[in-house]
Amino acid sequence: MPRPKFEEQWRQRFIQRGTVCQDDADIAGWTRSGLEARLRNFQRLWPGDVPGALWLDVGCGAGSYTRYLAEQGVTPIGMDYSLPSVQKARERSSAAMTWAVGDVTQLAIRPASLDGVLCFGVMQALSRPEQAVAEMVGSVRDGGEVWVDALNRDCLFTRIKRVVARLRRRPLGLRYDTPGELSSWMRRHGAREVEIHWIPILPARLQRLQPWVESGSFRALLSRVPVLGSLLSHAVLIRARL
Ligand SMILES: C[S@@+](CC[C@H](N)C(=O)[O-])C[C@H]1O[C@@H](n2cnc3c(N)ncnc32)[C@H](O)[C@@H]1O
Repeated sequence: MPRPKFEEQWRQRFIQRGTVCQDDADIAGWTRSGLEARLRNFQRLWPGDVPGALWLDVGCGAGSYTRYLAEQGVTPIGMDYSLPSVQKARERSSAAMTWAVGDVTQLAIRPASLDGVLCFGVMQALSRPEQAVAEMVGSVRDGGEVWVDALNRDCLFTRIKRVVARLRRRPLGLRYDTPGELSSWMRRHGAREVEIHWIPILPARLQRLQPWVESGSFRALLSRVPVLGSLLSHAVLIRARL
Protein backbone atom coordinates (compact mmCIF):
# COMPACT_ATOMS: atom_id res chain seq x y z
CA MET A 1 0.00 0.00 0.00
CA PRO A 2 1.47 3.43 -0.89
CA ARG A 3 2.39 5.62 2.11
CA PRO A 4 0.11 8.61 2.78
CA LYS A 5 1.74 11.91 1.67
CA PHE A 6 2.41 13.12 5.25
CA GLU A 7 4.35 9.92 6.07
CA GLU A 8 6.23 9.94 2.78
CA GLN A 9 7.40 13.53 3.38
CA TRP A 10 8.73 12.48 6.79
CA ARG A 11 10.43 9.40 5.37
CA GLN A 12 12.26 11.55 2.81
CA ARG A 13 13.33 13.96 5.58
CA PHE A 14 14.68 11.17 7.77
CA ILE A 15 16.55 9.59 4.84
CA GLN A 16 18.07 13.00 4.15
CA ARG A 17 19.10 13.38 7.80
CA GLY A 18 20.57 9.89 7.86
CA THR A 19 22.56 10.76 4.75
CA VAL A 20 23.97 14.18 5.67
CA CYS A 21 24.03 14.31 9.51
CA GLN A 22 26.68 12.73 11.72
CA ASP A 23 25.55 13.32 15.28
CA ASP A 24 22.94 10.94 16.83
CA ALA A 25 20.68 13.87 17.77
CA ASP A 26 20.91 15.49 14.31
CA ILE A 27 20.11 12.19 12.59
CA ALA A 28 17.03 11.84 14.80
CA GLY A 29 16.05 15.50 14.40
CA TRP A 30 16.33 16.28 18.15
CA THR A 31 18.39 18.97 19.81
CA ARG A 32 21.35 17.41 21.60
CA SER A 33 19.96 18.45 24.99
CA GLY A 34 16.54 17.05 24.00
CA LEU A 35 18.01 13.64 23.14
CA GLU A 36 20.02 13.61 26.37
CA ALA A 37 16.91 14.43 28.43
CA ARG A 38 14.87 11.73 26.67
CA LEU A 39 17.58 9.14 27.20
CA ARG A 40 17.93 10.04 30.90
CA ASN A 41 14.19 9.74 31.29
CA PHE A 42 14.14 6.28 29.71
CA GLN A 43 17.14 5.10 31.74
CA ARG A 44 15.38 6.18 34.93
CA LEU A 45 12.13 4.37 34.07
CA TRP A 46 13.23 1.18 32.31
CA PRO A 47 13.68 -1.62 34.84
CA GLY A 48 15.76 -3.78 32.48
CA ASP A 49 15.06 -7.34 31.42
CA VAL A 50 16.72 -10.74 31.72
CA PRO A 51 19.97 -11.22 29.79
CA GLY A 52 19.31 -12.14 26.19
CA ALA A 53 15.69 -10.92 26.18
CA LEU A 54 14.77 -9.93 22.62
CA TRP A 55 13.82 -6.25 22.22
CA LEU A 56 13.02 -4.32 19.06
CA ASP A 57 13.96 -0.61 18.91
CA VAL A 58 11.86 0.54 15.98
CA GLY A 59 12.57 3.99 14.61
CA CYS A 60 16.06 3.53 16.06
CA GLY A 61 17.65 6.41 14.12
CA ALA A 62 21.39 6.33 14.87
CA GLY A 63 20.81 3.66 17.53
CA SER A 64 21.16 5.67 20.78
CA TYR A 65 18.57 3.55 22.62
CA THR A 66 19.53 0.31 20.86
CA ARG A 67 23.09 0.59 22.17
CA TYR A 68 21.81 1.37 25.66
CA LEU A 69 19.67 -1.82 25.58
CA ALA A 70 22.70 -3.85 24.45
CA GLU A 71 24.79 -2.37 27.28
CA GLN A 72 22.11 -3.56 29.73
CA GLY A 73 22.51 -7.16 28.54
CA VAL A 74 19.35 -7.64 26.48
CA THR A 75 19.50 -8.52 22.78
CA PRO A 76 18.18 -5.56 20.77
CA ILE A 77 17.33 -5.31 17.11
CA GLY A 78 17.56 -1.74 15.82
CA MET A 79 15.11 -1.08 13.00
CA ASP A 80 14.36 2.03 10.98
CA TYR A 81 12.82 2.74 7.58
CA SER A 82 15.73 5.05 6.76
CA LEU A 83 18.56 2.90 5.37
CA PRO A 84 21.24 5.63 5.75
CA SER A 85 20.30 6.03 9.45
CA VAL A 86 20.55 2.26 10.01
CA GLN A 87 23.97 2.30 8.29
CA LYS A 88 25.15 5.10 10.60
CA ALA A 89 23.81 3.18 13.62
CA ARG A 90 25.65 0.04 12.57
CA GLU A 91 28.93 1.87 11.95
CA ARG A 92 28.97 3.28 15.50
CA SER A 93 27.94 0.09 17.31
CA SER A 94 29.40 -3.27 18.22
CA ALA A 95 29.59 -5.67 15.26
CA ALA A 96 27.53 -8.20 17.23
CA MET A 97 24.42 -6.02 17.12
CA THR A 98 21.56 -6.67 14.70
CA TRP A 99 20.05 -3.99 12.45
CA ALA A 100 17.17 -4.06 10.00
CA VAL A 101 15.35 -1.76 7.62
CA GLY A 102 11.60 -1.85 8.20
CA ASP A 103 8.43 0.12 8.78
CA VAL A 104 6.63 0.12 12.12
CA THR A 105 3.26 0.12 10.35
CA GLN A 106 4.13 -3.17 8.58
CA LEU A 107 6.40 -5.15 10.89
CA ALA A 108 7.62 -8.35 9.25
CA ILE A 109 8.05 -10.05 12.64
CA ARG A 110 6.58 -13.34 13.85
CA PRO A 111 3.60 -12.57 16.13
CA ALA A 112 4.26 -12.78 19.88
CA SER A 113 7.98 -13.42 19.33
CA LEU A 114 9.54 -10.41 21.12
CA ASP A 115 10.03 -9.65 24.81
CA GLY A 116 9.70 -5.94 24.29
CA VAL A 117 9.47 -3.07 21.82
CA LEU A 118 10.64 0.55 22.07
CA CYS A 119 9.30 3.11 19.66
CA PHE A 120 10.54 6.60 20.46
CA GLY A 121 10.14 9.71 18.38
CA VAL A 122 8.14 7.95 15.67
CA MET A 123 4.44 8.59 16.35
CA GLN A 124 4.73 12.25 15.30
CA ALA A 125 5.64 11.18 11.76
CA LEU A 126 2.78 8.69 11.29
CA SER A 127 -0.62 9.23 9.76
CA ARG A 128 -1.84 5.78 10.91
CA PRO A 129 -0.54 5.58 14.48
CA GLU A 130 -3.02 2.95 15.64
CA GLN A 131 -1.78 0.62 12.89
CA ALA A 132 1.73 0.97 14.32
CA VAL A 133 0.47 0.23 17.84
CA ALA A 134 -1.35 -2.89 16.57
CA GLU A 135 1.84 -4.12 14.85
CA MET A 136 4.00 -3.56 17.93
CA VAL A 137 1.58 -5.11 20.42
CA GLY A 138 1.04 -8.07 18.07
CA SER A 139 4.76 -8.80 17.90
CA VAL A 140 5.21 -9.05 21.69
CA ARG A 141 4.66 -12.22 23.75
CA ASP A 142 2.28 -12.43 26.70
CA GLY A 143 3.94 -10.67 29.61
CA GLY A 144 6.14 -8.57 27.31
CA GLU A 145 6.13 -4.77 27.07
CA VAL A 146 5.71 -1.99 24.51
CA TRP A 147 7.20 1.44 25.25
CA VAL A 148 6.10 4.32 23.03
CA ASP A 149 6.57 8.04 23.33
CA ALA A 150 4.67 10.77 21.51
CA LEU A 151 4.35 14.53 21.40
CA ASN A 152 1.72 15.59 23.92
CA ARG A 153 -1.19 17.35 22.22
CA ASP A 154 -2.35 19.01 25.46
CA CYS A 155 0.96 20.66 26.40
CA LEU A 156 0.45 24.40 26.90
CA PHE A 157 3.25 25.32 24.50
CA THR A 158 1.80 22.97 21.86
CA ARG A 159 -1.67 24.46 22.29
CA ILE A 160 -0.22 27.92 21.60
CA LYS A 161 1.61 26.58 18.54
CA ARG A 162 -1.63 25.04 17.29
CA VAL A 163 -3.53 28.31 17.64
CA VAL A 164 -0.76 30.28 15.88
CA ALA A 165 -0.63 27.72 13.05
CA ARG A 166 -4.40 27.91 12.66
CA LEU A 167 -4.33 31.71 12.55
CA ARG A 168 -1.58 31.64 9.94
CA ARG A 169 -3.40 28.83 8.08
CA ARG A 170 -0.25 26.73 8.13
CA PRO A 171 -0.24 22.99 8.83
CA LEU A 172 1.68 21.90 11.95
CA GLY A 173 3.52 19.23 9.98
CA LEU A 174 3.74 16.92 13.02
CA ARG A 175 1.15 14.78 14.75
CA TYR A 176 0.43 15.19 18.44
CA ASP A 177 -1.36 12.58 20.53
CA THR A 178 -3.00 12.39 23.92
CA PRO A 179 -2.11 9.72 26.47
CA GLY A 180 -5.79 8.74 26.50
CA GLU A 181 -5.73 7.89 22.77
CA LEU A 182 -2.43 6.06 23.00
CA SER A 183 -3.62 4.03 26.00
CA SER A 184 -6.89 3.08 24.36
CA TRP A 185 -5.09 1.87 21.18
CA MET A 186 -2.73 -0.19 23.33
CA ARG A 187 -5.63 -1.78 25.22
CA ARG A 188 -7.71 -2.36 22.08
CA HIS A 189 -4.86 -4.39 20.59
CA GLY A 190 -4.17 -6.50 23.65
CA ALA A 191 -2.26 -4.58 26.35
CA ARG A 192 -3.49 -5.45 29.86
CA GLU A 193 -1.83 -2.65 31.83
CA VAL A 194 -0.86 0.82 30.70
CA GLU A 195 1.28 3.36 32.60
CA ILE A 196 1.54 7.01 31.57
CA HIS A 197 4.73 8.98 32.26
CA TRP A 198 4.99 12.71 31.63
CA ILE A 199 8.21 13.92 30.00
CA PRO A 200 8.84 17.64 30.42
CA ILE A 201 11.58 18.70 27.99
CA LEU A 202 12.58 22.34 27.91
CA PRO A 203 13.91 24.06 24.79
CA ALA A 204 17.71 24.28 24.45
CA ARG A 205 17.75 27.95 25.58
CA LEU A 206 16.16 26.95 28.94
CA GLN A 207 18.43 23.96 29.59
CA ARG A 208 19.68 25.33 32.89
CA LEU A 209 16.16 24.63 34.23
CA GLN A 210 16.00 21.07 32.85
CA PRO A 211 17.47 19.41 36.01
CA TRP A 212 14.70 21.08 37.98
CA VAL A 213 11.88 19.64 35.81
CA GLU A 214 13.55 16.23 36.06
CA SER A 215 13.81 16.39 39.86
CA GLY A 216 11.93 13.86 41.97
CA SER A 217 9.69 16.49 43.53
CA PHE A 218 8.66 18.00 40.19
CA ARG A 219 7.97 14.55 38.73
CA ALA A 220 5.93 13.59 41.80
CA LEU A 221 3.88 16.78 41.36
CA LEU A 222 3.18 15.96 37.69
CA SER A 223 2.09 12.43 38.45
CA ARG A 224 -0.11 13.49 41.40
CA VAL A 225 -1.77 16.29 39.48
CA PRO A 226 -2.23 14.89 35.94
CA VAL A 227 -3.63 18.15 34.61
CA LEU A 228 -0.26 19.77 35.40
CA GLY A 229 1.58 16.84 33.80
CA SER A 230 -0.53 17.27 30.73
CA LEU A 231 -0.07 21.05 30.51
CA LEU A 232 3.66 21.14 31.26
CA SER A 233 5.00 18.08 29.41
CA HIS A 234 6.21 18.32 25.86
CA ALA A 235 6.09 14.54 25.46
CA VAL A 236 4.42 11.55 27.04
CA LEU A 237 5.70 8.01 27.42
CA ILE A 238 3.40 5.00 27.50
CA ARG A 239 4.55 1.71 29.01
CA ALA A 240 2.16 -1.09 28.10
CA ARG A 241 2.30 -4.67 29.44
CA LEU A 242 0.65 -7.57 27.66
C1 LIG B 1 12.82 11.48 15.86
S1 LIG B 1 13.74 10.11 15.30
C2 LIG B 1 13.98 9.20 16.81
C3 LIG B 1 15.19 8.28 16.79
C4 LIG B 1 15.38 7.52 18.12
N1 LIG B 1 14.30 6.60 18.36
C5 LIG B 1 15.45 8.52 19.24
O1 LIG B 1 14.44 8.67 19.95
O2 LIG B 1 16.48 9.16 19.38
C6 LIG B 1 12.50 9.13 14.51
C7 LIG B 1 13.08 7.93 13.78
O3 LIG B 1 12.00 7.08 13.41
C8 LIG B 1 12.17 6.66 12.09
N2 LIG B 1 10.81 6.40 11.58
C9 LIG B 1 9.80 7.29 11.39
N3 LIG B 1 8.70 6.66 10.93
C10 LIG B 1 9.03 5.34 10.83
C11 LIG B 1 8.31 4.20 10.42
N4 LIG B 1 7.05 4.28 9.95
N5 LIG B 1 8.94 3.00 10.50
C12 LIG B 1 10.22 2.91 10.92
N6 LIG B 1 10.97 3.97 11.29
C13 LIG B 1 10.37 5.18 11.26
C14 LIG B 1 12.88 7.82 11.40
O4 LIG B 1 13.61 7.40 10.26
C15 LIG B 1 13.81 8.30 12.52
O5 LIG B 1 15.05 7.65 12.48
